Amino acid sequence: MDKTQPKPVKHSQTTITELMIPSYANFGGKIHGGILLSLMDKVAFACATKHSSNYCVTVSVVGVEFLQPVEVGDLVSLLASVNYVGRSSMVIGIRVIAENVKLGLVKHTNTSYFTMVAKDENDKPTAVPPLLLEDNEEVKRFIEAMSMREIESGIKEKLNDAKSSIQVTKASEILKNQRCVIGF
Ligand SMILES: CC(C)(COP(=O)(O)OP(=O)(O)OC[C@H]1O[C@@H](n2cnc3c(N)ncnc32)[C@H](O)[C@@H]1OP(=O)(O)O)[C@@H](O)C(=O)NCCC(=O)NCCS
Repeated sequence: MDKTQPKPVKHSQTTITELMIPSYANFGGKIHGGILLSLMDKVAFACATKHSSNYCVTVSVVGVEFLQPVEVGDLVSLLASVNYVGRSSMVIGIRVIAENVKLGLVKHTNTSYFTMVAKDENDKPTAVPPLLLEDNEEVKRFIEAMSMREIESGIKEKLNDAKSSIQVTKASEILKNQRCVIGF
């Protein structure tokens, strides 16, 4: 397969629809977040594998916030597209919607971004085809993913700085208005 030939976004667009059954629910009757994460991982894998024609692994996840609960009986659809490609990595955008078919209600539960990396037969990252962008929306998503990567690496650096500058000796002052008690 020629890995230098650009592939269109639509070539790998993937949708999974699954019925939310009672065994997916927590004690409060809502669907476990982990069930949705697992479905997101599956659809990201399918989409990344279609684009790259390689086995792919999940490297990072951004934007997982479940702002609306999903109920037993809902039909959950996960719509995945390659938003960005690097050399071996791909950012897969996943839109998750939950539908109550009886009431005709559709909720957008979250949009998340999975970074997947294509691996060769020796388990090494391998080049993926460029992405053919066919409309303004696809161009916008590609640029958004570039910005997200930059922002993320800035956040990582700041977090590392913050971690290394924590002064435990000043804990009682730092934690003055927090809801914790130092018990030693
Ligand atoms: C992530 C992993 C592929 C990096 O491998 P590596 O040999 O260090 O290779 P590289 O540094 O060349 O990185 C490969 C790609 O991953 C990207 N990458 C690495 N770490 C990343 C991170 N934290 N977030 C986003 N992308 C990352 C790099 O930017 C690079 O992308 P590019 O080729 O498009 O430029 C490797 O550590 C791995 O296989 N991790 C385990 C993944 C896995 O098993 N996931 C399932 C979880 S159970």
